[in-house]
Parts: sequence; structure tokens; C-alpha cells
Amino acid sequence: MILRRFIVPETGCASYLFGCTSKGAAGVVDPHAGLVEEYIEAAASAGTRITEVFDTHVHADHRSGASELALRTGARLRLPEGAPVEFDFVPLRDAEDVVLGNTRVRVISTPGHTWAHACLLVTDTTRGEDPWFVFTGDTLLVGTVGRPDLHGQEGELAAALERSIRERLLTLPDWIEVHPGHVGGSACGAGISSNPSSTIGFERRHNRLLNGDEGGFINRLSAELSPPPSEFASIYDENRRGTREHSRTS
Ligand SMILES: [Fe+2]
Repeated sequence: MILRRFIVPETGCASYLFGCTSKGAAGVVDPHAGLVEEYIEAAASAGTRITEVFDTHVHADHRSGASELALRTGARLRLPEGAPVEFDFVPLRDAEDVVLGNTRVRVISTPGHTWAHACLLVTDTTRGEDPWFVFTGDTLLVGTVGRPDLHGQEGELAAALERSIRERLLTLPDWIEVHPGHVGGSACGAGISSNPSSTIGFERRHNRLLNGDEGGFINRLSAELSPPPSEFASIYDENRRGTREHSRTS
């Protein structure tokens, strides 16, 4: 199995190349528009091919490279079911499995940061049937959580985020590694650790926002968030349209 993390320090974005090298099938999670060439080169040097491209949600903080990477590689472009975009994609449905050779990806629907958001639970079937790690996008971050206030309906989204994290993610086994969509330096959460990964067990015990009384989650969250950067709205619109080639309206 391959797992490689790509960090863009300016925006605190994390993306990942992962999958099966023995059967030559890899995926990229939350690709950044500025790194498309690097994912392709990294896959080639690992002796594998990118067959699946995943966006965990429609991003507002950086330009997604998902459409372009899927076009360049011929990979399937996957976004959560219901993602409000203007191009075609293969929907990620809750509890569905996506197979990359010996690597299996279980979709976990996790609304909250946005209504359409998916986390990806990954198993290396050559090691065993237990899952090994989870890509959490902008739900569970290291030490904190993703912001639910970018698209209106802040109260409903925050409540959904808490449910998704407590009921869908923190119920996973302790040993599961957490690989989020953002690291320290991002405006997508308050006080994100600069350690780029964690585990479910550690976050269950020590995540600042999830500890304390359950009813206080939303208050703690809104007290910590500063207003989102002004460019988020236009970046989000651009990502909803995708590349020219993928757009139904171009
Ligand atoms: Fe996001």
C-alpha cells in the first residue's frame, strides 16, 4: 500500500495519494489545483496509476484540482452524493465500497462542514479486514473540527457536524489514523494542530472542541471561529463550476 501526504503550507491544505501498488490502482483525496503534476509523477514513480479522484466536499478555501486530475489521468471523479456542482461526477454514497486493487475504501456520509461531505475509511486487505485509517476532509481535524459557517444555516450545519463526528467517526476503533484535509495554518478551523495526523482514540480523549459537555459544542465552536476570508465565496463558485472541459454549461 502507498500513502503519501501533500501539504500546501500557505493554505494549510493536505491532500493524499494512496492505494495499491501491486495491482496498480491509486486514488487522490482532495487534490489541490497547484499539485496536479506532482500527483501524477508520484503515482508513476510508485509504479501505480491514478484510477479514482475524490473530493470529500466542494472546497471554499482553495481551488480543487479534482476535475483536471481526473481529465488528465482518465480516473473516475467522485464527490459526495448531492454535491452542488455543475459537472458530472460519480456519487459517493454512504456505506458504499470503492475498490483500488487490494485497498478498500468505505464511504461514510458526514454532513456538517457542508451538507454533502464524505469521509473515506481505508482498509489494506493484504493486512487484514480491519480498517487502518480515515480521510476526514473538513470534519474531524487534529485538535479541533472544520468550520460549519461558510454556507448559511450555521446552526443546523454545526448540529449535523457534531452528530457526524460523534456518531460516525468517534465510534470507529481507537487505532484508526486520522488524515484530515487541513493542517495548522488553514482558515478552515480554529487552532488546528501543526501535527498533520492523529488517531480516533487520541482525538476522542483530547480534541478540545469535542470534550466538555455535549451541549456546549456549538457554543465552544462559534466562540473560536473568526469570520471566513472574503475570497472563500468566489473560490467556492469556481469549484462548483469545475474545469471548462467538465462543465455541462461550457
Ligand atoms: Fe472545506
